[in-house]
Amino acid sequence: MYENSRLIIDSSSIPEADSITWRSPSNIAIIKYWGKYGIQLPRNPSLSLTLAASCTDTMLEYELKEGTSDGAIDLEFFFHQEENEAFRSKVLAFLNSLLPVYPFLKQLKLTVHSGNSFPHSAGIASSASGMSALALCLCSLEDVLFGTLKDPAAFDQKASYLARLGSGSACRSIFPYASVWGETSLLKGSSNEFAIPMEAHIHESFKDFHDDILIVSREEKAVSSRAGHALMDGNPYAEPRYAQARTRLGALLDSMRTGDLETFGRIAEDEALTLHALMMCSNPSYTLLHPGSLAIIEKVRQYRADTGNQVYFTLDAGPNVHLLYPGDIIHEVRAFIEEQLEEHCEEGFVQQDWVGEGPEEV
Ligand code: PMV
Repeated sequence: MYENSRLIIDSSSIPEADSITWRSPSNIAIIKYWGKYGIQLPRNPSLSLTLAASCTDTMLEYELKEGTSDGAIDLEFFFHQEENEAFRSKVLAFLNSLLPVYPFLKQLKLTVHSGNSFPHSAGIASSASGMSALALCLCSLEDVLFGTLKDPAAFDQKASYLARLGSGSACRSIFPYASVWGETSLLKGSSNEFAIPMEAHIHESFKDFHDDILIVSREEKAVSSRAGHALMDGNPYAEPRYAQARTRLGALLDSMRTGDLETFGRIAEDEALTLHALMMCSNPSYTLLHPGSLAIIEKVRQYRADTGNQVYFTLDAGPNVHLLYPGDIIHEVRAFIEEQLEEHCEEGFVQQDWVGEGPEEV
């Protein structure tokens, strides 16, 4: 939808060598995206909270390449100051896929410096923050070179579209507080191609919301998200699952509009366990939960029953448990984590995070 063969630098407007830097956060899905088709298009709509502390800083340096612009994309990639060939080839494949949208990429010498705010191999996926930061840099670059993205809403939509092509769920990181990705009759303007902002649709209480990530294991997971999505194609529960996600999204949106934490939390937990149930029902089946993940889940349920405090869990495609709770009970919850949950975390590691205002240019 954004293909544009006119985005080519001509000799009358040669850009000065310069750089662009964006900081972009990770996000945590409440309604999960699991199963895709075509080029990173979701089988069902998903909703996520935008995080604040777990983020990626990406600096994109550019200068006009000397000589012909018909060659390959010229890219160097540094991760935490070190050249990283694995990341470079991933990003190069992404940039190559964007050539119909951004043909000018071939005309530039590009150097990317990227780094995460959380320790590498902390068991926290960085594709959402990394790909959204890069997509934002590319949109800024387009605007610097051609002046074509002045409107903030158009800028965000395109950044979300590009981020999606890099890593599906990354498209939701562009917006403050919360966003929805995927077509639904419940939200005007929703699309499978990009996420839309939800700030106007959520109760204030979700803007002061926490997500402490309990790192049960730092190990790279045995089955990647990419493989997991692919296994949904043969999953006998796939169709009912996609229908269920739509129904749950409706209920979740109502709860987020009114500030009904109990319904929000119930849906968050149901979605987390559904995601992992789908993995267990895949062919071949697999499990990503660890004994520690289950121990934490049980303790969270018990704690809620004992105290009435509104603490809920969710899970990504991995063993780490995300604890969701409103800001007004932070002291009690942090004490609970320290006393009862840290023992299930690898080296006691907890990444404290919260709902944030989205990416910023730095
Ligand atoms: O964006 P991907 O391909 O890494 O898939 C993300 C899948 C989940 O994190 C499990 C769910 C989601 O909606 O973020």
